[in-house]
Amino acid sequence: MITIINGPNLNMLGHREPEIYGTETLEDINTWLTKRFEGVRGYGDSAFDGVWLEFFQSNCEGEIIDKIQKAGFNPESAGIVINPGAYAHYSIAIRDAIAAVPVPVIEVHLSNIHAREDFRHKSVTAPACRGIISGLGKEGYALAIESLLA
Ligand code: DQA
Repeated sequence: MITIINGPNLNMLGHREPEIYGTETLEDINTWLTKRFEGVRGYGDSAFDGVWLEFFQSNCEGEIIDKIQKAGFNPESAGIVINPGAYAHYSIAIRDAIAAVPVPVIEVHLSNIHAREDFRHKSVTAPACRGIISGLGKEGYALAIESLLA
């Protein structure tokens, strides 16, 4: 199992600042990811390779932390892909949750946070992650999943 966690305001994708985040909704992206990985050997069969995607979105810091803890200590988990949204820039609590779990966590941002406002240049959650992908749009989620599967 790989858990894809999206943080605050990402439920507004498709409607929110489309010039930055595009016109696809979060559901569109999640459906695209599911189709993309359906071809992978054993996809969807929990008894076989453990390759399936679980999707979670919340606007609440505590709910995101609960999900990181739950997924991160699940013996069936191969890792977590997280777009913490704005929490990336200031949530030490989410960073600590990422650091606490034994599975690899990869941070994804749709936009290139380094090419935007100064306050977005720093991610406090990224140092607790195995890696970070920023600026590649929805492809970033797929690349993160591929790396967890590799
Ligand atoms: C974001 C970048 C963050 O700075 C912003 O607050 C978001 C989305 C991204 O995916 O590009 O909500 O995480």
